[in-house]
Amino acid sequence: MAVMMLCCGCSDSKEETIDDGKLKPEEEEMVDVGVFDLESQTVKLNDGNIMPVIGLGTWTLSNEEAEESVYHALKCGMRLIDTARYYRCEVGVGKGIARAIEEGFVTREEIFVTTKIMPSDYDRAAQGINDSLKDLNLDYIDLILIHQPGSNDEAVYRAMEDAQKAGKVHSIGISNYYTKQQVDEVLSYAKVIPAVIQNENHIYYQNDELKEYVSQYGIVLESWYPFGGRGHTSENFNNEVILDLATKHEKSSAQIILRWQLQDGYVVIPGSSNPDHIRENYDVFDFELSEEEMNSVREIDQNQRYENW
Ligand SMILES: NC(=O)c1ccc[n+]([C@@H]2O[C@H](COP(=O)([O-])OP(=O)(O)OC[C@H]3O[C@@H](n4cnc5c(N)ncnc54)[C@H](OP(=O)(O)O)[C@@H]3O)[C@@H](O)[C@H]2O)c1
Repeated sequence: MAVMMLCCGCSDSKEETIDDGKLKPEEEEMVDVGVFDLESQTVKLNDGNIMPVIGLGTWTLSNEEAEESVYHALKCGMRLIDTARYYRCEVGVGKGIARAIEEGFVTREEIFVTTKIMPSDYDRAAQGINDSLKDLNLDYIDLILIHQPGSNDEAVYRAMEDAQKAGKVHSIGISNYYTKQQVDEVLSYAKVIPAVIQNENHIYYQNDELKEYVSQYGIVLESWYPFGGRGHTSENFNNEVILDLATKHEKSSAQIILRWQLQDGYVVIPGSSNPDHIRENYDVFDFELSEEEMNSVREIDQNQRYENW
C-alpha cells in the first residue's frame, strides 16, 4: 500500500511507502519537520506547508467579537487563526481577515486559517467544507480538522483528502484524538498522514506520550485550552510554579504558559476577545525558560482534562 504525501497543498505530490504496516514519510522528507523555529515563529508540517506556532482561538466569540479579535491579532503580528464551523463565528473571522488585508498590513498568503468540520456535518463533510469556505469568504483553508471522533471518520477524512487534492484546503488533520490507538485507526485508512493533531493540552494535562508517538509521522501537536479554558484560567494562572516563573521573568502567567508550550513544541491558540490580552499573548519571544524551568512546569502535570469529548 502506498500513501500520498502532498507538498504545500499543490500538485507536487510524492508516493511514499509504508514501513511495518505504518505510514511513514521518507526520511529526507522529515528533515526539519515538526521543529519549531521560534525566530520565524513557524513549524514545517509533514506535507511541506509552513504553520505559524502562535495564534488566536475564537471559541465562544460572537461574530462581532471574532471580527475584532482576528483583526487585532493580525494587527499585532499573529498569523494563525483558529476557528470551527461549530463556533458559528466563521463569518466574523472572515470579516476580520478581510479588514486586515484591505488595510494592507498583511496578505492572505501570510495568514494561516484553521477550521474544523462540525460533527453534525459528518454525513455531508464535502458540503461542510464548502460552507466554511463561503462563510470565511476565502478561496482556500490552510488547515481543516475533523473536530472530534465520530462514527464515520473515514468518510469525513476522505472528504478532507479530496478537498486537499482540489486545492480547497492545504493541510488536513484531526482534533480530540488522545491515544495511540485512536491515531493508529486514522492512520489505517488515511492516504495522507494528518499534519496536525489539535487536542486539549495545558499544565494539568500534558499527554507527552502522544506527542512522542506521533513524532515519527511528523505530526505536529496543537493545544486547545492552553489556559484551561474559560472558568479555569485562574487555576492555571495562579499555580505556584507558574507564578514563581512569572515573577522571575517579569512576565504574566499567561506568557509563561504559552512560552512553555512553544518551547515544548506545541502550537498555541489562546482564545481572547480582549485586544490587550491578545497583544500580551503574542509577546512571548523575548525571553526563554531554562531546561530546569521547563521541567518544573512538566512536573505540574496531573493527567487531568477539563473536558471529555
Ligand atoms: N478542537 C477543539 O475541540 C477545541 C476545543 C476548545 C477550544 N479550541 C480552540 O482552542 C482555543 C483556545 O481555547 P479557549 O479559548 O477555549 O481557552 P483558553 O485559551 O485556555 O482560555 C481562554 C480564556 O483565557 C482568557 N485570556 C486569554 N488571554 C489572557 C491573558 N493574557 N490574561 C488573562 N486572561 C486571558 C480569555 O479571556 P479574555 O477574552 O478576557 O481575554 C478566556 O477567558 C479556542 O478559542 C478554540 O479556537 C478547540
